[in-house]
Amino acid sequence: MVVDIKSALVLDGIGESCTNILNLHGIQIICRLNIIREDLLNDLYAYDAIVVRPDTLITKEILAAAFRLKIVALASPGCGQINMEAASNRGISVINAPNSTVISACELICGLLLAVAKHMRPARTAFSKGLWNNGSIKGNELKDRTVAIIGCGRVGKGVASRMSGFGMKVVGFDPLLSVTHNNGSCTMIKDINEIWPIADYIVLLGDYVLYSMIGFDPFATQEQCEQYFISKMTPEEQPAFQQWLDIHTSLLQPNRNFINADVLGRCKTGVKIINVGRGGLINERDLLDALNSGQVIGAAIDVFEGCQKDPVTLSLIEHPSVIATPHIATSTTDVPVHAAKEIAEQIVNLVKPGTYSTMLSELNKIYD
Ligand SMILES: NC(=O)c1ccc[n+]([C@@H]2O[C@H](COP(=O)([O-])OP(=O)(O)OC[C@H]3O[C@@H](n4cnc5c(N)ncnc54)[C@H](O)[C@@H]3O)[C@@H](O)[C@H]2O)c1
Repeated sequence: MVVDIKSALVLDGIGESCTNILNLHGIQIICRLNIIREDLLNDLYAYDAIVVRPDTLITKEILAAAFRLKIVALASPGCGQINMEAASNRGISVINAPNSTVISACELICGLLLAVAKHMRPARTAFSKGLWNNGSIKGNELKDRTVAIIGCGRVGKGVASRMSGFGMKVVGFDPLLSVTHNNGSCTMIKDINEIWPIADYIVLLGDYVLYSMIGFDPFATQEQCEQYFISKMTPEEQPAFQQWLDIHTSLLQPNRNFINADVLGRCKTGVKIINVGRGGLINERDLLDALNSGQVIGAAIDVFEGCQKDPVTLSLIEHPSVIATPHIATSTTDVPVHAAKEIAEQIVNLVKPGTYSTMLSELNKIYD
């Protein structure tokens, strides 16, 4: 399908990594900073596409005034403040940039995993109290230790390849992926219960919702499936999968408290946990208890269930064996650049199919 996009309104200082690509392919662009709602209402009628950051409010009213608009392009993962229903009703496609944060998130996870292994938090705390290492702080080597990745999507796959470079044994669990899908750096395990007793490190990357449905995509090539660590299904497999998905589409509750006292009790004594996925995947009370009992000897957490005012969350943040970061996984100078490029390439691909290898990431499936 070819979409006729001649002009785009680019807001919020999205940057040259977007505008250069659109210009290169003959799409006329107007860049505006700090546009007010009234101007957006008045001006949007003239554009085929709008490129925004997640904090820009795209309401039903604004969409109703956008007569020509075909694309709302969000330079970020997630869905921002866009009225998706109104966009879908008007046949306006909403696209985002899910790959833009992957490298930054992977690198943070690997850095945290190393920091936990080398006991950097306790070492720093002791040092700041004037204690020189008297031999009581002993980290571990990563080589030959087992890291389990729970959720082997974009980020999980990247963590697997990076940590296998350290000589770690990498095992993965992901209900959407086939166990035969071994990309060389990660061995998929079918039954999650087999993971707990063997893992030295557990990296949590399952989302609340199982939305990685690329396996259904009838147009996805085998190559694209492999790039995303996914096996392409045969038509015979699809009915069973669909039934399974019906049960799991609102996986919000099952994934909440995914790591709890029961699971931690089945892990190796001295296991270490890294959560850069979502707050709420871990029962924070149970993790705190396990840290205090020594069942878990280190944790690194970038996403919390509660806020700093919550006493359990605060205790975790302050725990001597926890490295707590304030949701910094995607706070790099590179992510906005990747995001701007990823959505610009998708827009160009809609106009000139196949120009870039970037896949269309459409949230409301108008053109997908
Ligand atoms: N801290 C941050 O700023 C930050 C940055 C990037 C990504 N993330 C989060 O990391 C997670 C992974 O991101 P991604 O881009 O790889 O997403 P993705 O959609 O590519 O992969 C998520 C994978 O998790 C799997 N999954 C869902 N529930 C599961 C479960 N119970 N057990 C095992 N696997 C399960 C899905 O099948 C999917 O393959 C997401 O939750 C994302 O929001 C956080």
